[in-house]
Amino acid sequence: MSITVRAPAKINLHLGVGAPRADGFHPLVTVYQAVGLCDDVTAAESPGWTLGVTVPDWIDPDAVPVTGANIVDRAARLLADHHGVEVHASVSVIKSIPVAGGMAGGSADAAAALVALDRLWGLETTDDDLLALAAELGSDVPFALVGGTALGTGRGELVEPVADPATWWWVVVPSDQGLSTPAVYRRFDELSPDAPEEPADARALLLALATGDPVILAGALHNDLESAALDLRPDLADLLELGEASGALRGLVSGSGPTCLFLAEDADAAREVAARLSESRSVVLVTNGPVAGAHVVTYA
Ligand code: C5P
Repeated sequence: MSITVRAPAKINLHLGVGAPRADGFHPLVTVYQAVGLCDDVTAAESPGWTLGVTVPDWIDPDAVPVTGANIVDRAARLLADHHGVEVHASVSVIKSIPVAGGMAGGSADAAAALVALDRLWGLETTDDDLLALAAELGSDVPFALVGGTALGTGRGELVEPVADPATWWWVVVPSDQGLSTPAVYRRFDELSPDAPEEPADARALLLALATGDPVILAGALHNDLESAALDLRPDLADLLELGEASGALRGLVSGSGPTCLFLAEDADAAREVAARLSESRSVVLVTNGPVAGAHVVTYA
């Protein structure tokens, strides 16, 4: 038997970041949206454990953590330990989400692996246990399970779905060089020594979502990590300007970066912005959200 689970990339429509907590993590108030760039994780029966990763030509294969250090290995061990079973499966990951790009690609793989292995091993893990295991793997892994649009609090691991009836169109520009999330948070601390304990709330963003109007959403997008990411990668500021000059309603850094996002008026406008950006950038993707969280696409 083999099972394929698809899990989406996330973007942060609002990312409010507070001063670091005692455990070193930063308190967040964020609004996640799952978008249609997805990784597929296939788990098949096997006596041992193997993990293979396939990337499209625009992703550097060396940027993907190797077997043993990959978050999918950790997800498998955590799930197996939780139930007291052996880790045994042949797992392959087909990536379409930028690596180290601020779109939670590794988290999507972890979420998809939890669901695929749970089904393959017949474990019937409860939703609450799956979410708790996901949170142990990383702050935004629970969201990759839930998908849609959700408010994230705590260090990002506490997720609560929010209404988001519209479809929003995004142009996504990955970078050939990844950015380390811890490094971006460290730079945030240096640049914001007076960060408040309570992160900026998401009220304006949630009201904007409810209007369904992309012009209003564009005005409400917020990312407290953006200045830190731009400080580490000043070239991204030019890209954001170029996207806006190419017709995007707003450009912003995705999470901790370096992937940049551009909100467009509709699907046609997104394709036009993408065409303009493609004149100078080798990889420009068009997608939309919200989409579903990790879900089974094939049982064979
Ligand atoms: O939870 P996750 O493994 O995705 O976090 C990666 C790193 O990002 C953490 O080790 C930490 O340095 C930083 N981080 C943080 N505050 C958060 C989430 C992540 O400082 N809320």
